[in-house]
Order: sequence, then C-alpha cells, then structure tokens
Amino acid sequence: MGERHRKLHGIMICVPYQGHLNPFVDLALKLASSGIVITFVHLEFLHRKLCQTHHANKTDVDLFSKARELGLDIRFTTMADTFPLEFDRDANFKEYWEAMVRDFPPLVDEFVGNILASDRDMLHFLVADTVHNWAAAVARKYNLVSVSLWTQSALVYCLGYHLDLLEQNGHFPCKDEVEEEIKYVPGVESINTKYIMPYLKQSECESVISRASRLLFEQGKMADFVLQNTVEELEPQTLSALNRYLPNYAVGPLNFSQNISTNTVTTSLWSKSDCTTWLGSKPPGSVLYVSFGSFVHTNKQVLEELAYGLLLSKVDFVWVIRQGILGDGATASVLPAGFQDAVKERGLIVGWCDQVETLSNPAIGGFLTHSGWNSTLESMWCGVPMICYPIGFDQPCNSKLVVADWKIGIHLCEGGSLDRENVAHKIQSFMNGGDLERLKQNAERVRKIMKNAVEPDGYSRTNFDRFLKDLEAKIH
Ligand code: UDX
Repeated sequence: MGERHRKLHGIMICVPYQGHLNPFVDLALKLASSGIVITFVHLEFLHRKLCQTHHANKTDVDLFSKARELGLDIRFTTMADTFPLEFDRDANFKEYWEAMVRDFPPLVDEFVGNILASDRDMLHFLVADTVHNWAAAVARKYNLVSVSLWTQSALVYCLGYHLDLLEQNGHFPCKDEVEEEIKYVPGVESINTKYIMPYLKQSECESVISRASRLLFEQGKMADFVLQNTVEELEPQTLSALNRYLPNYAVGPLNFSQNISTNTVTTSLWSKSDCTTWLGSKPPGSVLYVSFGSFVHTNKQVLEELAYGLLLSKVDFVWVIRQGILGDGATASVLPAGFQDAVKERGLIVGWCDQVETLSNPAIGGFLTHSGWNSTLESMWCGVPMICYPIGFDQPCNSKLVVADWKIGIHLCEGGSLDRENVAHKIQSFMNGGDLERLKQNAERVRKIMKNAVEPDGYSRTNFDRFLKDLEAKIH
C-alpha cells in the first residue's frame, strides 16, 4: 500500500482519574472525527469501576460502542496496571504511584509492542497524557511520532518546563515559608512563589508526586507535539514562549467536543444525582455550587469549618461530597452531626452530579472550587465566577490565573486560616457584595472567549486543524 494511502492510527493510553479521562476521551473523539483510527486503552481497574457505576452492561464493556455506531473508528481495549483489581488505589495513593512510576513503563512498552505487531498496515503514532512518564522512551523505542496531551494550564506546563531555571534561581525546590515574585521564566510575567505547585516546594520535593513530576516534565520535552487544554486568547504569552522550544497547540477547552457529543461516551466514575429539580425552586444566581473534584483529599476539620461557614452565610448551596474525600476509604458521613437538618431546604448535598449541567443552571451564582483545571474551565465555559480554595497539585497556580489574571474570582482564605466566620463572610460578600457585578462581567467576557475558540474559525479549532496537518506531514 502506498504511504499516502495508509491510515493514521493513534494509540491512546489514559491516566486513571476523572480530570484526565474527560479531556482524553474528548481528544479521542476529535481525532477519530478527523478520520484517524484510534485505539483507546483503559486501565482495567478504572474500566471495572465505570462498569460498576453504570451497572455493567449499560456501558457494554466497550466505552466507544455508540461512537462507533456514528461511524468513528475507535477501538477499545483495556490493560492491567501494577496491582490487583481490588486494590484501593485512592486510599493507597502513594504506594500506587510509587509502583506506577517504577513498574508500569515496562508493561506499557510490551502492550504497545503487541498492538504494533498486530497491525503493520497503518501508520501508528502515540498519544499520551503528559503525566505518563514512559511516553518518550516508548515512542523512541518503536520509532513512533509522539503527541503529548497536557490537561492542565499552560502556566503550570511552562513552570514545569523551566525546572532547571527555577533551580538555578533557588526556586526549586522552593522554600515553603518564603514569598517572592518570580519574574524570569519566559512567558510568565510574574508569579509569586505562594502560587507555584506545592510539589516543587521543599517540604514535598521527596514525595512520589514531586519525583514523578520531574520525570514527566523531562520526558514531555521529547514529544514531537504538545496539545494544551487551554485557550490561546487566555494564555497568549505563555503559549507563544513555549512555542520557541517545541510545537504547542492550544486546543481547549477539551471537555466540550464540537464534533461528536461526549454524551456518546459515559465517563463518569460515580453515579450522578439530579440537582436540577432542587435548583428549579431557587431564584437566578442565588445558589453557590461547592465541589472539590474527583481526586484531592481533605480532612474532617476543613469540612467542618466549610459546613459551618455555609450555614452561617445563609446562602443556598449545592455541595458535592464524593465518597472517599477524606482519603481513608471510610464511607460514613463526613459532615458534623445535625448539619443536614440545620440547613434543611437551604442546602442540597450530593455524592456526585453532572457538573457542567449544574453550573449551567440559571440558579447558580458562584462556584466554590478547589481550582482543578477542568472545574476551572467548566466554570469559565458557563460564565460562573469562582471562590478558589486550592488544595494541591496545579491548583494554586490555577487560582492565580482566575483571581489575578482574568479577575473572575476571589480567594477563600489566602494565607489565612480557614475558620467558619471567615468562610461565612467571604461567601456572603461574594454572593451579595458590590464586587459581584464586576466579576460577572469579566466571567461573561471569558465565557465568550471560550465559546468563540471552539467555533469553526476560532483559535482552538484552527489550532487543532494545524496540528493535524503537521502531524500528517511528520508521519508521512
Ligand atoms: C485532577 C487534579 O486534582 C487537578 O488539579 C488537575 O487540574 C486535573 O486532575 P480533579 O481534582 O478531579 O483533577 O479536578 P478537575 O480537574 O476539576 O476535574 C474534575 C472533573 O470531575 C470535572 O470534569 C468535573 O466536571 C467532574 N465532576 C466533578 C463531575 O462530573 N461531577 C461532580 O460532582 C464533580
């Protein structure tokens, strides 16, 4: 078969977390909608969780069966990771990631080798979440073009890209207690050390996440292309500075596929409760949505201060408290005794919901968020201002973008303690105060930027088309 007529085939292996799965699935749909054959690889334990959540056969074991009915060539398969299916990867996070960093790369190497050996007709390439620390080595071994999907902000990528520079200037590892402005990273005008990722700080620099992050940023530099889940108009200087080193394409927000609806694929790892009926009885803009994503853990004291803060604020709220939020595998209620009775019809507490649907509801006036990148993008997509309460990872950086750069949110307790009176005061003044109009106007401006980006002539769509052309040219 002539080179030109051989089909392109992308091998995609996902990272087993909701915040990574959502954009990765969306990217698979976008690539397949462009005529590329995709093999999407799920980790077995994650797929089992998905099937259990959706009562086994509803997902039909094949995540993409509906997408295939629509004509997309997405092949679906699963692979084992380093632990038995029953192992609680959430409660044993550190042990799990130690093993993933050490023992997963040879498993992927063999798995990818088998896929390649089973089909010699197509032109293969690799699409890996940048979080995977094995991608560059596997791509090099099999001589594959390698695409890296960065699911977080370009700002975080840029800081990670310049770890050497941070190290030379004494900011990596970064002293925990010192606050300094960093003004020398190309593409980052200024960032205070209090916002940089905690895994770059002294206290965390021996942790598995810190070690894994150093590896992934190093490996990421060896990718042929980097796709960024952000919008060019929102991080223009950072993206253009990164482009000096390797081809970056801002193609976000990825959670909102414009080609084939992501509704064709069920990705939710928990079953969703309905919030719309309850929200239907509330006045426009009156309800605060509270959620800390799918991944970070917190402690009982924080939840207690937040609970009483919400109670004292007298603001109506929807609060997502997912099972396992304390990270100890416990399933018992984590809220103070009597709290639910005390808030009665003022508060709806659910284990999980359709976040975009909830944020889109006219009753929602604000989002108290841990500033995970997907939650941030989704809030921006819906034009909802945020109260930021970052807990770890990239979240402090994201909160800096939201509050200082885009001016669409406030910090909950920056530097200060999280006590109930402060929480109540912040929530009250955010939902009812004079600043809200300004925040709303900015949020509306950002919402338009996001929507325009995914229009046919918008930045993200044209960047994606440019990426496809460059990819084809590189492979052929
Ligand atoms: C993780 C990291 O913690 C985060 O900092 C990083 O940016 C991405 O990876 P997570 O903590 O889960 O992600 O946060 P986030 O990125 O906000 O993703 C959460 C996802 O879960 C969102 O897409 C959100 O829509 C979804 N979600 C959340 C629901 O579908 N229902 C809910 O009730 C809550």
